[in-house]
Amino acid sequence: MFIGLDLGTSGLKAVLVSEDGAVVASASATYPNAHPRPGWSEQDPADWITACRSVMHDLGSRYPDAMRSVRAIGLSGQMHGAVLLDARDQVLRPAMLWNDTRAHAEAARLDADPMMRRVTGNIVFPGFTAPKLVWVKSQDPEVFQAVRSVLLPKDHLRFWLTGDKATDASDASGTAWFDVARRDWSADALDASHMRLDQMPQVFEGSQVTGQLREALLSEWGLSGPVDVVGGGGDNAVAACAAGCLSDGQGFVSLGTSGVLLAAKDCYAPDPDTAVHTFCHALPDRWYQMGVILAATDSLNWLARTLGTEAVALVSALPDRIGGPSDLIFLPYLSGDRTPHNDAKVRGGFIGLDISHTAQDMTQAVLEGVAYALTDCHAALEGTGTNLTSLVALGGGAQSTFWCETLATLLGVPLQRPSGADHGAALGAARLAMIPSGKAPVEEIMAAPGPFDTIAPRDDVRDHYLMQWNRYRRLYDAVAG
Ligand code: XUL
Repeated sequence: MFIGLDLGTSGLKAVLVSEDGAVVASASATYPNAHPRPGWSEQDPADWITACRSVMHDLGSRYPDAMRSVRAIGLSGQMHGAVLLDARDQVLRPAMLWNDTRAHAEAARLDADPMMRRVTGNIVFPGFTAPKLVWVKSQDPEVFQAVRSVLLPKDHLRFWLTGDKATDASDASGTAWFDVARRDWSADALDASHMRLDQMPQVFEGSQVTGQLREALLSEWGLSGPVDVVGGGGDNAVAACAAGCLSDGQGFVSLGTSGVLLAAKDCYAPDPDTAVHTFCHALPDRWYQMGVILAATDSLNWLARTLGTEAVALVSALPDRIGGPSDLIFLPYLSGDRTPHNDAKVRGGFIGLDISHTAQDMTQAVLEGVAYALTDCHAALEGTGTNLTSLVALGGGAQSTFWCETLATLLGVPLQRPSGADHGAALGAARLAMIPSGKAPVEEIMAAPGPFDTIAPRDDVRDHYLMQWNRYRRLYDAVAG
């Protein structure tokens, strides 16, 4: 048996996977995400550990026999977050997350040095890790002085699980301290934000063993041990492992807290001017490119909260088939924008509200606004020469056929939605944990998880949606600044 743990933004998910790759059980636990000021997004790393204990106890109590035969654990996690540890390995402040854009001025300053894009292959986005440390240096110099180690979220969990400070190339790619071509830390990039190599964890590939689960946890969870922990990866690289997206032409669209359009790449071909991200894949000698928006289901959840209802209730009031775009346009820049605008300050809006509009119209506009933003990401990826002929649809939002059909129509690409349960990055993490045992070839372990429902573009209404997307694009200029 193998376990995959995905430390997401809204919660932690665990899957228990047997040697043939089948998911035997899953468990999850949620934790809060604080936004104490506009642009800030924080979590208490202690909540991740509580959630991990809770899912492991849950699996242990329901599947004691299977848990005894667990051989390895793989980790996946939300990217870019900064966990700061002091010399006694105590957490110094709440973790600043991927959608925290307070360090936008620091990011712009780092990005202005041509060395940064040359070495890291990416824009220094405000949500990346490096500008956060520059912000801490100026706003909280005592904390900065005390920083002994910086860990990404899933690597903080790994440290608690194994006692080892380690990371993997895919997650390290999102720090802006990493040479994405060489797959190692860059002394120059670290120096630019006043950081040192000795503050960084050791880098592994996603499928390499980084250490073993601590003895105390083996007995607490009823595991017989030894249990290896593998590198794992940033959630998007690991979700790509779950979706079978490893090589040129393979990609996915994900409707999670963030929205992601990802294309796997056989070689390193960065193009930072497009605001596309180019990162190491979780498997050696592979890379991927992606466009990222900061609020996909986050936009829908915001609407549900504001209307005093649940997101599922809003979505289930919509039909399955689309019938043309709404006149009401929603700009999903609730936490700013990454691809294509790299604008941390822009904020969202509804444009064209009419006295007759209802909660249902607003829901449709929110789903369409997110789909327009992902169409922007598609255009940015096409600008780098990437051609995607089919996409796997992932994330909680993909359960809405209305949302998927809107997206397929705008992108002009059929979406393949797994018809069974979508275990996403947690499954990808378990798959990475299976690799060191060498029981099956990597391509076999990472196969796309069929069967799929195919959601085809609706050619009868496509022009109408593309016209509305063009209106949407022009609205950015009206709200920017
Ligand atoms: C990727 C990104 C998000 C987080 C969400 O660059 O910021 O997709 O990884 O978990």
